[in-house]
Amino acid sequence: MRKKVTVVGAGNVGANCGLRIAEKELADVVLVDVIEGVPQGKGLDLAQSGPIQGYDVSLTGANDYEPTAGSDIAIITAGFPRKPGMSRDDLLMANYEVVRAATEQIVKYSPNCILIVVTNPLDAMAQAAYRVSKFSKNRVIGMAGVLDSARFRTFIAQELQVSVDNVTAVVMGGHGDTMVPVVRLSNVAGIPLNELMDQATIDRIVNRTRNGGAEIVKYLKTGSAYYAPSAAAVEMAESILRDKKKVLPCAAYLEGEYGIDGLFVGVPVKLGARGIEQIYQVKLTAEENAMLQKSAAAVQELIHVMKSKS
Ligand code: 2OP
Repeated sequence: MRKKVTVVGAGNVGANCGLRIAEKELADVVLVDVIEGVPQGKGLDLAQSGPIQGYDVSLTGANDYEPTAGSDIAIITAGFPRKPGMSRDDLLMANYEVVRAATEQIVKYSPNCILIVVTNPLDAMAQAAYRVSKFSKNRVIGMAGVLDSARFRTFIAQELQVSVDNVTAVVMGGHGDTMVPVVRLSNVAGIPLNELMDQATIDRIVNRTRNGGAEIVKYLKTGSAYYAPSAAAVEMAESILRDKKKVLPCAAYLEGEYGIDGLFVGVPVKLGARGIEQIYQVKLTAEENAMLQKSAAAVQELIHVMKSKS
């Protein structure tokens, strides 16, 4: 049976998710957006690339959720993007409403799907989708660890002038300024990072990773990144649709792991046909753990605000 993915939000992230899914022929795609004509137009444009690019999937757009019925995965990208000087957290309540409304509709038409949440502030929006959907925790996943790790890998590869293929990097915690690039677990072809770079260089790269999203917002001025975020979301979707069981850093609902309870925080997970099939508990040093707890506390703060205002 053909697989089907709903992409909520036909902006830059959503449309690029559609394109990447099509180019990998992972599934048929339905783009949904509140703006009339945009998902339909982009869906048609993407479909018309098929004969040239050599992909053969259905790509359509809609302003309602009926055409999304029976989706295997829904990727939620809809929301207001960051403007220069704006933090992800400024987006909290506006995007909460967007994610709540989208989740209700997705659940109505695709009660068995897996949700991948991309909308910022990421960890809080994953929590909102989890609460609203009432799905089991393995079926609601936040995107950002794959993106943040990709940024970390890129900067390491650029610094050392080596192939990104050789670079493994782990970023845990929330998708915000407190994210935790775990230097000790990052390496180049197995060579620990601190044997390849001095501490000042590592610190600079860690900082740049933490501000990776803001750096792009600053350049673009009118929006935020979309090529890497869509690539990250689609790597997750692929692992689920093809049951690849990749181990990827994702925002997962923790219930005691890492001493964190009742919160979405980025940790390494196994992604397969059932969504999150395993959460890995890495032994962290006291310092790494302190950074993770600080990051979780930042997410918790947002959840408090969201609960008190919603
Ligand atoms: C980023 O980090 C938009 O949060 C996204 O680029």
